[in-house]
Amino acid sequence: MATTYKAVEVSAPGILRVVERTIPEPGPGQVRIRVEACGVCHTDAATVTGIYPGLSLPRVPGHEVIGRIEALSSGVSRWKIGQRVGVGLIAGEDGVCEPCRRGDTVNCQNPVVSGVSVDGGYAEVMIAEARGISLVPDELTSAEAAPLLCAGITTYNALRNAGLRGGDLVAVQGIGGLGHLGVQFARHLGFRTVAIGRGREKEKLAKDLGAHLYVDAVAEDVAAVLQRMGGARAILATGTSGSAMGSLVSGLAARGKLIVVGVPQDQIQLNAFPLVFGGRSIYGSLTGTPIDGEDTLAFSVLENIRPMIETVPLEEAADAYARMIQGKARFRMVLVTGQ
Ligand SMILES: NC(=O)c1ccc[n+]([C@@H]2O[C@H](COP(=O)([O-])OP(=O)(O)OC[C@H]3O[C@@H](n4cnc5c(N)ncnc54)[C@H](OP(=O)(O)O)[C@@H]3O)[C@@H](O)[C@H]2O)c1
Ligand SMILES: [Zn+2]
Ligand SMILES: [Zn+2]
Repeated sequence: MATTYKAVEVSAPGILRVVERTIPEPGPGQVRIRVEACGVCHTDAATVTGIYPGLSLPRVPGHEVIGRIEALSSGVSRWKIGQRVGVGLIAGEDGVCEPCRRGDTVNCQNPVVSGVSVDGGYAEVMIAEARGISLVPDELTSAEAAPLLCAGITTYNALRNAGLRGGDLVAVQGIGGLGHLGVQFARHLGFRTVAIGRGREKEKLAKDLGAHLYVDAVAEDVAAVLQRMGGARAILATGTSGSAMGSLVSGLAARGKLIVVGVPQDQIQLNAFPLVFGGRSIYGSLTGTPIDGEDTLAFSVLENIRPMIETVPLEEAADAYARMIQGKARFRMVLVTGQ
């Protein structure tokens, strides 16, 4: 059996390179996964550019990881060799900080973060915490399942936890990796679904994904369109631009919520008037737990939701990453290994 594996690491800011590493043994409470697929998420940019707080290089990015367990440490009882599992961004909580002690493990103050605090899935092999993995149903291929464990869980969890009701007007801003899944989840959760993008290029795709209406933010006043429809109960902001987010508050109905899942580098500018007069709110939402990941996969199977993906071999990770950054991916690049 081979003693080494291929990985793609960030050796210095901006540099993704293929390296050969020695296959590690899983430590206490860990499993070793033979990776089959890993999605390329925009959050990987924080690893590739080196800006993620506390990051040290070299680091292997990747937190939309699907593969099979090929080794586990003696203390692991929940999992078996050969099972197909997935790993998302927040892949292990410390269990002792205040949010953890209150059961809010996704907001752990000292989490294991795939591709940031530990090496992620741009590789043939990954070590994961046994408590941080999700079981993958047989109905999904590994390449299809991968984006569901970050882009999918993030949008599904944000929508299902927003206190919405069937028939509510819900808008999804930004039709990228997250947004194209957000549109599908919003539609299949029973909402009147509006997709907000820039230009007309994604209009047909957004409608094919289930949007009842597409709004071009370049040509139209998004808030005015939403207000003419009665105001959105929620807007899921998935874009990478803060300046595009603040004005969305004016498109909300009274008590409506702007749910921020995109993490732009620039500031979000807010006007207090529509927040106060109408009791509107804005808050963030961070991915989900491993069991939320299993819920996301199960709901996707139930409702026949799949990401639109472009697969490329692991060795072409740098090209796939560049395509994502340039906004050319339709809608998720997925790295696949020869497994
Ligand atoms: N909260 C979480 O747990 C979580 C999880 C995963 C990712 N994220 C964050 O979510 C964001 C999106 O990730 P992704 O993987 O979906 O990225 P992506 O596939 O690269 O898509 C980028 C998105 O940003 C939008 N965008 C880019 N420039 C814009 C501008 N100037 N104005 C308005 N919109 C603009 C694009 O909208 P158009 O459709 O208009 O082109 C597109 O929807 C990133 O910031 C990422 O870090 C957060
Ligand atoms: Zn904690
Ligand atoms: Zn992600």
